[in-house]
Amino acid sequence: MVELPRDFTPDLRRLKTWPTIESSPWRQPYLADLTYGELYRLADGFVPRRKLRILEVGCGRGFLSLELARKGHEVLGIDLDEEVVKTARRVMKSDPYKSKRATLEYEVADFSSWNTVGKSYDLVIFNRVLHHIPRPNSVLDKVKHLLTFRGRIICIEYAYDRFERRSATWFYHIRRVLEQAGWFASSKPLSDNIQVSVNRIMKDWHEHGRREGLNRFKEMHEPLRKLFRERYFSWEPYIFWDIFMGMRIPSVETEMGFARSIQAMERALIEKAAIGPILFCFVGDVLSGKHI
Ligand SMILES: C[S@@+](CC[C@H](N)C(=O)[O-])C[C@H]1O[C@@H](n2cnc3c(N)ncnc32)[C@H](O)[C@@H]1O
Repeated sequence: MVELPRDFTPDLRRLKTWPTIESSPWRQPYLADLTYGELYRLADGFVPRRKLRILEVGCGRGFLSLELARKGHEVLGIDLDEEVVKTARRVMKSDPYKSKRATLEYEVADFSSWNTVGKSYDLVIFNRVLHHIPRPNSVLDKVKHLLTFRGRIICIEYAYDRFERRSATWFYHIRRVLEQAGWFASSKPLSDNIQVSVNRIMKDWHEHGRREGLNRFKEMHEPLRKLFRERYFSWEPYIFWDIFMGMRIPSVETEMGFARSIQAMERALIEKAAIGPILFCFVGDVLSGKHI
């Protein structure tokens, strides 16, 4: 695990260079913007334009909850990891925009056992979290009962089982050229043999998902479609995050150019259906629910 600086501030409005956190996109403003910034913009596009009560499940260090509270929504972020919640609270306290912000609270809690009696929300957001929580069906059923009559769910999720050979081949080529340039940190560099390397990438990727017990696409998507009225669905670029994490290009200008083109390339290849995407965005409204 990367040791974070004591004053680490994962805040989209206070981006700066954090040289010691090499493997995180927060280490450079342009990388944070292309990753966390893009996720925020994607989610924000589906946040109804009225004052809402929002629950973010698995808020992590809180960059999204913070931004939503700054937009005037009442936000509660919950996460089962005490350490990340500690950072989220510290960032919230030092927020230069706090006088204009709406209520923002964080709680350490496991959503699966979280007591929901007397609670209701207009919007529940999962940002790269549902794939971690066992029994997504009952998790989503719980969300449905938490939502108000006009409530909405935004779910941006990683589906590891969708990583396929064409994606692995694309990943191989990008990573291989970076390695050859000495611009990629890896304990076990890829070989010239494309078949062997692509097989290794595929195996490692899928084994990691299985080992972590991550939910598969179908296990998340089916209950989402069953329990909510689908308003929007898209596949989004995400493989490039793994490239950013290993990328070590000394020149900031060069790295910025590479980063932008790798992200744009993945998006274009997804649109052309030339590679299998692994991150989806689902937006659904309640079919029925509590009245406010
Ligand atoms: C990949 S991180 C994403 C964090 C944040 N949403 C982001 O995009 O930066 C997944 C987060 O989900 C949290 N998490 C996993 N299972 C959870 C559960 N059952 N209840 C609450 N949080 C959970 C983890 O502690 C972790 O902070």
